[in-house]
Amino acid sequence: MELIFATNNRHKIDEIRPLLPAAIKLRTLREAGIEQDIPEPHPSLEENAREKSIVIYNLVKTNCFSEDTGLEVRALNGAPGVKSARYAGENAVPEQNIQKLLAALQNEKDRSARFRTVISLILNGKEYQFEGICEGRISETPSGISGFGYDPVFIPDGATQCFAEMSLEEKQVFSHRRKATDQLVDFLLEEATKL
Ligand code: IMP
Repeated sequence: MELIFATNNRHKIDEIRPLLPAAIKLRTLREAGIEQDIPEPHPSLEENAREKSIVIYNLVKTNCFSEDTGLEVRALNGAPGVKSARYAGENAVPEQNIQKLLAALQNEKDRSARFRTVISLILNGKEYQFEGICEGRISETPSGISGFGYDPVFIPDGATQCFAEMSLEEKQVFSHRRKATDQLVDFLLEEATKL
């Protein structure tokens, strides 16, 4: 089965590609020759993920999926959430988002947070969603150089290191994205048995 992953985010591709069985041939937007800016205008991860997959499906009429991820911090009532990429401004770089987050939590005892990933799959014109959650907490200071985004300040429950201090394989043990992708794979394998 061929599936387009509606992203050009190298980190997301590196995390998801090794989780797929060989029978699923993944193509990124670039590999599919699609140069399209996909909007994320909605107030929820679910709606943004759906928008991305539908835009691409309508363009190429090929089975595809997208994912949208947010960091939800309890003391900030779920912020930055769907706005995680733009937390410190429209063109913010990860370091700026992290600095804003650490400042917002400066006098906060409750540093609990979670990553939530929503995958939207369009299979033969029908949409299905899968969710993966990783509970954890925000560290006092950034550390590590692996991964991307908020990885330098996110310590998953059950770990002593933040994501950016882990190898890809270690991050996958805890990862919200891995959990959502596992569900996607289980669903696709189940669907394949019905053919
Ligand atoms: P989006 O899903 O590309 O919209 O990402 C939202 C924001 O969350 C961006 O700032 C990403 O860098 C960040 N982000 C998404 N997934 C992860 C992750 O697995 N670790 C750390 N940051 C992430």
